[in-house]
Parts: sequence; structure tokens; C-alpha cells
Amino acid sequence: MKIEPAAAVEGAVAVPGVKGISQRAVLLGAVAEGESEIRGFGRAADTESAIHVVRRLGAEVTEDGDRVRVAGVGLRGFIAPDEPLDCGNAGTVLRLLCGLLVGQDGRFELTGDESLSARPHERVAEPLRAMGARIETTDGHAPVLVEGAELHPVRYELPVASAQVKSAVLLAGLYARGGSTTVVEPLPARDHTERLLTYLGVRLARAAHEITVWPVDRLPPLVLDIPGDLSSAAAVIVAAALLSDSELIVQGVNVNPLRTGLLDVLERMGARIAVFNRRSSGGEPVADLEVRPAPLVATTVEREEIPRLIDELPLVALAGAFARGRTEVLGAGELRVKESDRIEQVTRALRAVGVRIEERPDGFVVRGTPARPRGGTIDSAGDHRLAMLGAVAGLVSREGVRLEGAEAVAISFPGFFDLLDSVTRR
Ligand code: S3P
Repeated sequence: MKIEPAAAVEGAVAVPGVKGISQRAVLLGAVAEGESEIRGFGRAADTESAIHVVRRLGAEVTEDGDRVRVAGVGLRGFIAPDEPLDCGNAGTVLRLLCGLLVGQDGRFELTGDESLSARPHERVAEPLRAMGARIETTDGHAPVLVEGAELHPVRYELPVASAQVKSAVLLAGLYARGGSTTVVEPLPARDHTERLLTYLGVRLARAAHEITVWPVDRLPPLVLDIPGDLSSAAAVIVAAALLSDSELIVQGVNVNPLRTGLLDVLERMGARIAVFNRRSSGGEPVADLEVRPAPLVATTVEREEIPRLIDELPLVALAGAFARGRTEVLGAGELRVKESDRIEQVTRALRAVGVRIEERPDGFVVRGTPARPRGGTIDSAGDHRLAMLGAVAGLVSREGVRLEGAEAVAISFPGFFDLLDSVTRR
């Protein structure tokens, strides 16, 4: 696919529902009692993986556009299938599902595509084992084998800030009788699981760096309206911040403060971002955004800020290419274990189009120039966030970008290119 340079992005857009909330809602709906109704479901390959696995486990799911109904089988009602549970590319599905399966009867095998299989899964197995779970990885990777066991509460200190690991432990805590389960976080990571559990009436307490959950006998069904995914809007937001004459409105997007790091960083660099029409839905904050460009200055993104924009860091690197000075991203070693090694891939991709970027063990350093990067060829390496980065790089380049592996956007946002086309002015 060839992405031609653009003069501006302008107009109003809405994006599909938050991927991580869509996946969590399907998983929780499947172990609830009764029928859950999820509206604004973010349709994508990764959320399809959530539907696929709960169907395999015996939950009935009916789909009608972005409205999804899940007939829950009850907290311990999953039936072990003969075949492995294929989680596709979705780390959230595989890891959160571990937290539910350790409390079931039977033996389960979880697999995924090549990328998901190669990622580190011992990080979920270890705390679950400490709760009495029987769970084994394959040399730290997938397939992951789970056998139901009696669970007991733990207090677990996360070695890395990871919402997926935190969520798996909290979900297993629902099954751990005899007390409460506590997760201690090094830095606060996205709290969609905590918000959903609270919304369902589960007893959950939060202190400075810890979250405590109490076991339950049953979960009620969910009725939920999911707001738009800021991570899906991020590419077009960055394009609007970089292309002079742009004026972009993003409607109905989730502004959970643990997800809005990109907006803070862009504002710090000088972009003009207004957040208005604040409201809430299903226990999550929602708002509309207005994004306008300005000359940008470089910034440093440090470890403390990383979890709040972990999936947007590739786009921060591109913004850095336009900012006066040296933009640094540090303490982001987690990027190496995402859908691809995103430190290596972002550096490779942006260099290929003429950006002055250098790799660091835990991040990257970008030297900005006022001129647009030349352009060239970017390969997504099958990573959806790299494909989106390549698309924006094409819009803001002088000669355009030939994007290979563009179809990877379907992992989180199949309508991405249509949305981009709808707001691009050449
Ligand atoms: C996610 C958490 C993050 C993020 C991923 C989705 C989630 O991963 O990168 O895209 O839904 O909880 P980690 O928990 O590994 O940091």
C-alpha cells in the first residue's frame, strides 16, 4: 500500500470501542450468571479472539454489529475443550484467561500465533502458581497448560508494571477462598479490570500502589456501553498535531487517566489539545477531543510515565522527528516484549524513511528537524501499531511511504485506513 503525503487532517471521527474493555467484557460476561449485553464492542481480530475462546469454553455469544451478547456459564462453568484454545495475537486474552481458567475444573491448553507464542508468559504463571494454581508455560512461552486447582489468596508484588499480569491475578483472586488477594504495582497500569469488577459489584479496594479483591460466589451479567479506544485514535491524533492546517475532532473516546499519556506528551511538546464534553460510561471516563497543530519542541518521556502511553510510544518517536531538539523515551524496556520488539522495529522503520533515531536498551532518542522526513518503505513486521505508525509517517513525509504488511491494522482496528482517508486532505 502506498501512503501519499497529506497537507492536513480535518473533520470529526469516532473510533471503535476500547479493545481491552471489549475483551474483558466478553471474558467476564462468560463467567457471569445470565446474559450480558455489550454495546460499542470494538470489532477487531484481537476482540474476535476473546469471543472465539469463550465459545470454545461453552459460552454462547450472539453478535449484531457492535452489539454483542454473552450467555454466561457461571464462575466455574467453563467446559474444557479437546482442542487448544487459540488466542491469536491477543496477549490480553491469553493472560487474563489464565486468571479465570486456574479456578475451573479440567485441563486447558492455550496457544496463539507466532508472535503471541514467543512472548513471555511466565510473568502470569508465576503469581498464579503462588496462589496454588497448576499452570505451566513452554520454556516461558505458549502453549500454556492450565489445570484447575484449589486457589488461596496472595499478596503479589508485580516485578513489571503490567495491566495484563495484574488483571490475571485479580481475576484468580475471585476464586481464592479464605481471604483477599492483593496486587502491588511498581507504577499504576491501566485499570479497566478494576473498574469493571467494581461496576459488577465485586468488593475491591485501592490504595496508593495496591489493589485488593475479595472472592465471590457469582458474578451478575454486564450491561455496558464501551467508549472509543484512544489507542485507535492515536495515529490520526498525531497526524493532526504534525500537519499544519489540521483540525481534528475525536468523539466519544475513553479518557481513562491511565491511558491518556499521549495527550499529555503532545501538549508538553506544544500541540493544542482540548478535552471537552466529559461524561462517563460503564465506570469509565469519556470525552470529545479537539486536536490542532503547533510547532513542537522535544521532550523526555521517563519510566514513571511509560505505562500511561505504552502502546503509543511508536507515535511519540514520530512526533519527536518534528520537534525542535532531542526527544528521548527511557525506561520503556517493556516495548521489547510487545507484539514485536517495538524498540528495534520503530528504529528500523523510522530510519528507513529518513528520521534520525537511535535505539537504546530501554527506549530511543530522536533528533527533530523542521523538514518533513523523506519517505521510503516501512514493513509492519505483522505488528498493528507499526502499521499505523507507517501510515502516519507516509502522511507527514515528503515523498510518501510504501507500507508493507498494512493488513496488520486489523488486529486492533480493521477500519483504520477508511478512517484515515475520511479526514486526509492532500
Ligand atoms: C493491555 C496491557 C498492556 C498493553 C496491551 C493491552 C491490557 O500490556 O500494552 O496492549 O489490555 O491490559 P502489558 O500488561 O503487558 O503492559
